[in-house]
Amino acid sequence: MHVSHTRSTGTTTGTITGTTGPTGSDVLVIGGGIIGLATAWRAAQRGLRTAVADPEPGGGAAQVAAGMLAAVTELHYGEQTLLGLNLASAERYPAFIAELEAESGQDTGYRACGTLAVALDADDRAHLRELHALQRRSGLDSQWLTGRECRRLEPMLAPGVRGGLRVDGDHQVDPRRLAAALVTACERAGVVFHRDWVDRLSVVRDRATGAVLADGTELAADQVVLAAGSLSGRLAGVPDDVLPPVRPVKGQLLRLTVPGAYAPFLSRTVRAFVRGSHVYLVPRENGELVVGATSEELGWDTTVTAGGVYGLLRDAHELVPGITELPLTETRAGLRPCSPDNAPLLGPSALPGLHLATGHYRNGVLLTPVTGDVMATVLATGELPEEARPFTPRRFSPVPHEPVPQEPVPQEPVPQEQPA
Ligand code: GLY
Repeated sequence: MHVSHTRSTGTTTGTITGTTGPTGSDVLVIGGGIIGLATAWRAAQRGLRTAVADPEPGGGAAQVAAGMLAAVTELHYGEQTLLGLNLASAERYPAFIAELEAESGQDTGYRACGTLAVALDADDRAHLRELHALQRRSGLDSQWLTGRECRRLEPMLAPGVRGGLRVDGDHQVDPRRLAAALVTACERAGVVFHRDWVDRLSVVRDRATGAVLADGTELAADQVVLAAGSLSGRLAGVPDDVLPPVRPVKGQLLRLTVPGAYAPFLSRTVRAFVRGSHVYLVPRENGELVVGATSEELGWDTTVTAGGVYGLLRDAHELVPGITELPLTETRAGLRPCSPDNAPLLGPSALPGLHLATGHYRNGVLLTPVTGDVMATVLATGELPEEARPFTPRRFSPVPHEPVPQEPVPQEPVPQEQPA
């Protein structure tokens, strides 16, 4: 990536031979985060000679993300079309994980544990009721529980919890382990890694033809995939009207450790909307407890701030008072790649030879399986699968295009308020 801040000066490793020269491939993926890796893995499985350029494959937002697979609990108004893609990916997760763990020989920390979204006061409860009504109108599985029922499921919850939504289909995976397993699976599938920054895209006669690394190495490829998260919007060499409109949205997260004596602390992901802020606690089987996350429009800033950490701990403590006993092991900030409609950009760009797989915003971990599949299909066949068509990058192109059809949400009366 050609970016203004400090770059590593890694070396290029691995070469492949083929019709396009000693550093050529059928597919070059720029960006080795989980989206780029899933794309490369699936493309290599289809017999395409595939390379990935990234100074640190498996790095990026996956090193920070909590790994919630929250298609139902993170449903938002106006995101019905995205919901379809989120659900398609959630459905693929068990088989994707089984295959990835078998291919890599590594555990990904996938946990089919479900999620409990709770409310702490009357406003939070009204907000959760609205979410429940939207979920029901969208045909999703979500069950309203009283405060007492919530605490029966999760005894560490604060006594003041006023009610909640039990969503048994929203699971979790450990994004760090997922990324490591994808690197191994890619290596075993024959993907070549160039461990360096990409300086710029190569374009010859209005066609993407590869990329140039920071050390000057030229990589040739028949097709290039730009999958560099938030950095995708600033790769040199990409024509202005083709650059994806993605921006970074900062998220700060904490990691706590649950000592053996306290286990099981929480048995599923617990989340809440506390006075206008989202907070979630994601308990891993290995004792890690991830607490997230802020959402801040601060450009490329990744500073961990006292205010960010304080706000997360304050809200998490209101929800689960016992967290104050736990060791605080890590604080971290990452950047979500956000597009103007919060949905990803998948498939061919307006520049022949260049595809995009970016803009996954809050759903990068969830959308990894479906992204790998649809990108490999379009790379191998030239056809973008049906489920990815609403997410074509061309919806943001300056030339007039058909508006993205939004699926209507069936209307139904909001259910009567029930006592907590
Ligand atoms: N999906 C969780 C987050 O973006 O914080």
